[in-house]
Amino acid sequence: MEIIITKNYDELSEKASKIMLDVIKNNPSAVIGLATGTSPLGLYNNLIKDHKENGTSYKDIKTVNLDEYMGLDISSNQSYVYFMRENLFNHLDINLNNTHIENGKAEDPAKECERYNNLLHSLKQDIQLLGIGSDGHIAFNEPNTPFGSETHIADLTESTIKDNSRLFNSIDEVPTKAYTMGLKNIMNAKKILIIANGKNKAKAVSDMVNGKITEEVPASILQLHPNCTLIVDEDAGSLL
Ligand code: F6R
Repeated sequence: MEIIITKNYDELSEKASKIMLDVIKNNPSAVIGLATGTSPLGLYNNLIKDHKENGTSYKDIKTVNLDEYMGLDISSNQSYVYFMRENLFNHLDINLNNTHIENGKAEDPAKECERYNNLLHSLKQDIQLLGIGSDGHIAFNEPNTPFGSETHIADLTESTIKDNSRLFNSIDEVPTKAYTMGLKNIMNAKKILIIANGKNKAKAVSDMVNGKITEEVPASILQLHPNCTLIVDEDAGSLL
């Protein structure tokens, strides 16, 4: 794993967007795996700025998102599909039909997992962006998710529900289940870019990089990926 430690969040976002833009510029029809959450917001702002200033086009870019809360769809401003449109897609020339995410309101959840998994098999990510949870999750693969897992429905841990409640009116509103890419789907990406900032990520980052490769720390599987770059600010990297 290549590790880059930056002075602050701005520098982290700058470096992460350069890596993402390299992939997009080299392959204008690339498949980009995206994440939600607060970690990628700076990177997304940089992509939007670059699109406006330099005209980088997303016309033929395809995207696959990691996860979506069960029970939420575009009609909820807490859904991840809403997040992606608000924070990225609506500001680029991307074709929304080329942007993919699990349908949180699918009538048949098992069929929805199958549909999304088949899609992932046909769209191998040229790059997959990840954040990390303070419990070591990537996407919504919580501790003890099998390394061989593919798209599935995850029960969110108490720690994830608590972390994510900051974005809801109250903790009771946070969904307790989510659709998520599995660890195998993530490892299938040609390149992985994982970013983390803030002191509350320091332990998870250190366990991911220097700990045992174990299903107890889902992110530790990234030690086995042949092309993975981790960018952290000084706080998140403080235990490395
Ligand atoms: C988001 C996702 C999650 C987040 C992680 C970190 O699509 O899959 O794994 O990347 O929970 O979240 P933030 O960036 O909000 O700290």
